[in-house]
Amino acid sequence: MLEVKNMWKSFNLGTDHEINVFRNFSLSFIEGESTAIVGANGCGKSTLLNLISGSLPLDSGKILLKGRDISLLPEEKRSSNIGRVHQNPSFGVSPSLTILENLALANKKGDSFSLRNLVKKDSIPFYKELLKTLDLGLENKIHTQVKFLSGGQRQSLSLLMATMKDPDLLLLDEHTAALDPKTSFVVMEKTKELIEKNNITTVMISHNMSDALKYSQRIIMMDKGEVILDKRSCDVSEKELLDIYTKQLVKKITA
Ligand SMILES: Nc1ncnc2c1ncn2[C@@H]1O[C@H](COP(=O)(O)OP(=O)(O)O)[C@@H](O)[C@H]1O
Ligand SMILES: [Mg+2]
Repeated sequence: MLEVKNMWKSFNLGTDHEINVFRNFSLSFIEGESTAIVGANGCGKSTLLNLISGSLPLDSGKILLKGRDISLLPEEKRSSNIGRVHQNPSFGVSPSLTILENLALANKKGDSFSLRNLVKKDSIPFYKELLKTLDLGLENKIHTQVKFLSGGQRQSLSLLMATMKDPDLLLLDEHTAALDPKTSFVVMEKTKELIEKNNITTVMISHNMSDALKYSQRIIMMDKGEVILDKRSCDVSEKELLDIYTKQLVKKITA
């Protein structure tokens, strides 16, 4: 359902700081499946998501979503089919807008609209019902500016916003990395629930090997822009994954 074909991506081409992140990289994802991607810092995980979402342009190659070539489609056009939650809890939301306004914005994704008439009164019950599914009591705070919410509440709201238009694809970039362990657990469980309820194809980057295995059907490890492991998550133990990861890190440090 998502195919990355013969993708090339470099930064600062032709300068002393040239970085070739992807050289003829190809990878496919299956409809309805959750894939976790792990790998050392700088191996290209976020760049991969940025290229899929359209935050960055490809140098060459193709990205197909449900058979449609989206490689040249601008990010806003892709956003109605691709939901995304970032690592930073401030990224997916507009902090100075209220919870209600944020939800209304997410509901307008891909459409044109004016900020003045953003929230339609008759849609408030719909948003409240949606918020209730988070179990965080946010339905009682709809007029609160998002900047007053905790990191966990913001990430949960971001998740809701990223999935409310029933996207074909959900991209999660270390979306619990900035949270404490307990909140991270709550947000991961919520993520699982939303993904399963809506049967969304998901690509999740994680820094946490245990979460990566627990919340995915397929596990991929990357190193320097290449896939070095691609297995069913149930066939890999956390120890095995950590061992491979550590070996790569040692190689990197001693290289
Ligand atoms: N916008 C950018 N400009 C220049 N270099 C970048 C940019 N984005 C990423 N890079 C570089 O590309 C490489 C891969 O980065 P990234 O995809 O963020 O790694 P990861 O998410 O796996 O930690 C790194 O060397 C990083 O410094
Ligand atoms: Mg990253």
